[in-house]
Amino acid sequence: MFERKESPPEGDGLVPHLAADRADGRHDAEGRKEGRDVGAGAVPDLEVSPDEDPFNWILTTGTTVGRALISAAQRLGETNSETERLDSQVLLAHVLRQNRSWLFAHHEHELSEEDCRRYADLIRRRRRREPVAYLLGRKEFYGLEFGVDRRVLIPRPETELLVDLVLAQISDRAGRPVVVADIGTGSGAIAITVAMHAPEAKVYGLDISRDALDVAEVNKKRLIPDGGPEFLEGDLLSPLPEPADVIVANLPYIADEEYSGLQSDVRDYEPRLALKAGAEGLDLIERLLEQLPNRVQDRGAVLLEISPRQGEVVQRMAQELRPKPSYVGLRRDYSGQVRMVTLEY
Ligand SMILES: C[S@@+](CC[C@H](N)C(=O)[O-])C[C@H]1O[C@@H](n2cnc3c(N)ncnc32)[C@H](O)[C@@H]1O
Repeated sequence: MFERKESPPEGDGLVPHLAADRADGRHDAEGRKEGRDVGAGAVPDLEVSPDEDPFNWILTTGTTVGRALISAAQRLGETNSETERLDSQVLLAHVLRQNRSWLFAHHEHELSEEDCRRYADLIRRRRRREPVAYLLGRKEFYGLEFGVDRRVLIPRPETELLVDLVLAQISDRAGRPVVVADIGTGSGAIAITVAMHAPEAKVYGLDISRDALDVAEVNKKRLIPDGGPEFLEGDLLSPLPEPADVIVANLPYIADEEYSGLQSDVRDYEPRLALKAGAEGLDLIERLLEQLPNRVQDRGAVLLEISPRQGEVVQRMAQELRPKPSYVGLRRDYSGQVRMVTLEY
């Protein structure tokens, strides 16, 4: 899933070109590159309410794109944001239904009354640390755009490795029917992505949250209108109607004590049910491992995302299972952190 305290800014990966631009923006501490595009130097004051209350920030109809961006970035910067300029651009592009490069080519474009109202509202919410992905209502994962809101965890880039591992397991079984079960499917990011890349597989997405499954269903209808995973509600493996060849799970793994130390973007907005997992953060993973007998096929595989600090303990738990898996291994993510546990039978 993700190392919560170090989770990437939520605007990353919205669409590929935005992600790349965002990274650029972070390195542009002086603001020269982006400032040039939006008219650096002019600190707008006319369109900002003289009232210093951040929640009374008002843009006057006719404010230009360039001035709106500078003013919004200042407002976000007052809250110790590290991504204020990028966020201000992504949100304005969203309001204007344009991409970010359009903004830079049209910084004299004047905003309508409705644009001003919507932009001010988004900037106010971002000041309160609401994740950009929720403000936009979408997040890019494995090149696909998933609808997200506060009913589901925002899919993280590191979870894409889990999809790679599932697809490798499926291709190892080429020519044979494969059943895949994604436990704790949330927005459906893993299950839907696997189903899109391996349409021959039978894919289930399971979650205890009806709210999350409603989001997953909408994503499925948009991305795979004529098929896709079957979503089922219930605790861990209990709704799974048949043993699976590949069980994949990005379950909650935050320890109770860690939870209060999470960034407020995560702690105050993402579902607690998707994050917290008891005193050690292992409650869900441990229970899933206990449920595996008879739920995973002979020669099946189980792929779990974990916190880097949980690698050894989960590995030990898996080695103590009966029947004993023939292989238990840890896997690092693309940033070098231990992130996945693989069990093979
Ligand atoms: C960390 S989120 C992962 C969401 C998604 N798979 C992803 O990677 O973006 C964990 C998910 O597990 C679900 N969950 C929590 N407890 C569960 C349980 N006992 N049984 C099934 N799902 C559970 C939550 O509702 C949440 O959607």
